[in-house]
Amino acid sequence: MTIRVPLIEQRDASYDILIKAGLVRQLDAILKEYCPAAAYAVISDSHVGKLYGEDIVQQLSAAGARAELLTFAAGEWNKTRETWAALSDRMLVAQLGRDSAVIALGGGVVNDVAGFVAATYLRGVPLVQVPTSLLAMIDSSIGGKTGVDVPAGKNLLGAFHQPRVVIADPDLLGSLASVQLAAGLAEAVKHGVIADAEYFAFLEAEYAAIFAKHAPALERLVRRSVEIKAAVVAQDEREQGRRAILNFGHTVGHAIEATSKYEVLHGEAVAIGMVYESRLAESIGIAGAGTAQRITRVLELLHLPTERPDASQVDDLIVAMRNDKKARGGEIRLAFPKSIGDPYGSDGAGWTVAVKEDAIRQVLVNT
Ligand SMILES: NC(=O)c1ccc[n+]([C@@H]2O[C@H](COP(=O)([O-])OP(=O)(O)OC[C@H]3O[C@@H](n4cnc5c(N)ncnc54)[C@H](O)[C@@H]3O)[C@@H](O)[C@H]2O)c1
Ligand SMILES: [Zn+2]
Repeated sequence: MTIRVPLIEQRDASYDILIKAGLVRQLDAILKEYCPAAAYAVISDSHVGKLYGEDIVQQLSAAGARAELLTFAAGEWNKTRETWAALSDRMLVAQLGRDSAVIALGGGVVNDVAGFVAATYLRGVPLVQVPTSLLAMIDSSIGGKTGVDVPAGKNLLGAFHQPRVVIADPDLLGSLASVQLAAGLAEAVKHGVIADAEYFAFLEAEYAAIFAKHAPALERLVRRSVEIKAAVVAQDEREQGRRAILNFGHTVGHAIEATSKYEVLHGEAVAIGMVYESRLAESIGIAGAGTAQRITRVLELLHLPTERPDASQVDDLIVAMRNDKKARGGEIRLAFPKSIGDPYGSDGAGWTVAVKEDAIRQVLVNT
């Protein structure tokens, strides 16, 4: 199936997300239609490059296209300026011109770095996203954000660069480790909470089939999550309004991620963040009673952590939240659900709520 991301501000940058098992085997035909180019730089990391990179380069070469596989060592700690520079230099050495395109083949790290290379190489060349982790399929490959981490923080340098097409092939998830699958599922739960109660109920009912990677369950999951994320970003490409609801779970989550020195995976941190933020939403009277409990239960079913790591000190978490871009004057802005499937702000009240640090501290200390 095809889901269109109809960007309103930049109509020409609207693009399709193709979702179907086996799509990667037709990559050459898809590229011919969506992103013809004189040459392709297939950028991947060391894990994914080994699993799928050579096959893809061979497939493209057999179809008469020039394709170069460029890989870098896997891991968030390689999402850096240095990796961006090394990849760009290798493309220059390979004499890839303005008529070439970048194919980002990998998880969110590859999405972000390869996307940033595409955004800047010779002032920008077309980008095709081939996400291979669940998180990348349902989250990072949609929305046009690219970038790298720097010592001062995550994702601080980057650019918006919309892909020509996103090719989501759930078959690629077959080789994904369970902890990585679970990490992606945290974002799926978030999509249910902020947009669709029925989808949330599907996750509650079908968690075992999802975890066993049954094809119909995975396809439905990818499709519905992509629809939800695409619909939100289409209305707010540059992140000024409604897109803030995608931050549910991420204010506390980012703080947990940062204070753990990134030992807790992003999705795991978001899972824990959703638990505390939904309790906070109940405590300040935004969410109905029982909301947090239902969220916690589905996260447990999906093998995700729901309590902050013991080592993390509440004060450190608060400092980390204060440093987040959303904090101002002793108050931190958060996105909340009113109930499962219904975000705060859906009645025109603005998409985030300013909460006093003390209220957040209370929830973190006492629950
Ligand atoms: N641009 C955005 O809008 C956006 C949104 C959310 C997250 N992100 C970024 O995404 C990153 C996290 O993404 P991630 O969780 O995919 O991490 P990741 O890219 O590091 O992938 C996780 C691990 O799984 C491996 N892997 C990926 N696909 C595989 C497959 N099919 N088979 C076997 N192994 C596979 C990778 O090599 C890596 O070791 C973070 O850097 C985050 O900042 C970006
Ligand atoms: Zn996230």
